Amino acid sequence: MSDALSDMLMRREAGHSLERAFYTDPEIYAQDLENIFYREWLFAIPACQLTKAGSYAQLQIGAFNVILVKGSDGEIRAFHNSCRHRGSIICKGREGHVAKLVCPYHQWTYDLDGKLLWARDMGPDFNPSKHNLHPVHMRELAGLIYICLAETPPDFDSFADAARPYLEVHELQNAKVAYSSSIIEKGNWKLVWENNRECYHCAGTHPALCRSFPLDPAVAGVSADGSVPERLQAHFDKCEAAGAPSKFYMGGFAGQYRLARMPLQENAVSYTMDGKAATRRNLGRVTVPDAGTLLKFHYPSTWNHFLPDISMTFRVTPIGPQETEVTTYWLVNKDAVEGVDYDLKRLTEVWIATNDEDRQIVEDNQTGINSPAYVPGPYSPIMEDGVDQFVDWYVKTMLRAKGPQHMAAE
Ligand code: FES
Ligand SMILES: [Fe+2]
Repeated sequence: MSDALSDMLMRREAGHSLERAFYTDPEIYAQDLENIFYREWLFAIPACQLTKAGSYAQLQIGAFNVILVKGSDGEIRAFHNSCRHRGSIICKGREGHVAKLVCPYHQWTYDLDGKLLWARDMGPDFNPSKHNLHPVHMRELAGLIYICLAETPPDFDSFADAARPYLEVHELQNAKVAYSSSIIEKGNWKLVWENNRECYHCAGTHPALCRSFPLDPAVAGVSADGSVPERLQAHFDKCEAAGAPSKFYMGGFAGQYRLARMPLQENAVSYTMDGKAATRRNLGRVTVPDAGTLLKFHYPSTWNHFLPDISMTFRVTPIGPQETEVTTYWLVNKDAVEGVDYDLKRLTEVWIATNDEDRQIVEDNQTGINSPAYVPGPYSPIMEDGVDQFVDWYVKTMLRAKGPQHMAAE
């Protein structure tokens, strides 16, 4: 990391948005990849996306291309999608199904567990066992697949141990993907996150979402002093008494993740236009009908909503300095039948609209920041503490990557 970048990070004015270059500069974008996306644990896919042996999903993260594939033994594994012969990409589709992993260039053929099975005309001295696919670090947490591109990944267990009880009651092992969408937002990945971490914009932007999601800033944000308002504590207590872990929990370096089961608007139980359940067959064992939504965010790659009837998971993938992909999965009980237990339009319309509205405001934000006239502006102390928390995490994480002396100097 250049000293110029460290200086910029260290002079960030608390409670203000970042300087323009953080949202525009290709070199800072490259540093974001290097110091964050190539180092941290990243949410990849819900495990239920891979339905049978040979199902695969392919992800591009910066320069890395990764395949996740379900083996004949039912285990999901992650590999670098680069052939051990001369490096060609192996799986080209975003998702699909294969019997074996066959390189399209010279047909080297790998088993679903990454083992090289066959390579033509390589001579008597060739040792196939030295040319298996390179694995990528992967962990499954209660039905969510995480990967890490670092050679030596950071600790995953403390996050997993904290999150597991909250997630397990949603029984994602019994889920199926009812629908998924990937949209491209022409904005820096940090703008996507900043927008996610506040609902200051919701009343003016999200008419459909506001039918069920409350505008209470304590729901979307974090209180600066870590306190929880009484009304929320009462909600946590009620849900916990019924067996659903709910209380506000923030953990990881500089608050990298948060878990809290937040109430929805009064009388709303799910993200539908009428606030009623989206399916007749619940996913999981949360029995309090108005338990609301378990909000989980985990920087830099995912935010999630887990409700009594459905679960939703979102993945943030940077594509370029001013381009970010947001992928959304709507998960329902695997036994729920479309057209019988749920209507796909009713299930998805609120968040399809919300995602598109968010895309538009993120793109408008980026366009305005691109003007040389932009200067960092102040966050609302009432509505945007979550944004400040995200930016603070970003700055500290980048400085930590630079080395301990920079943390001390901060
Ligand atoms: S590059 Fe894959 S078989 Fe040659
Ligand atoms: Fe939004």
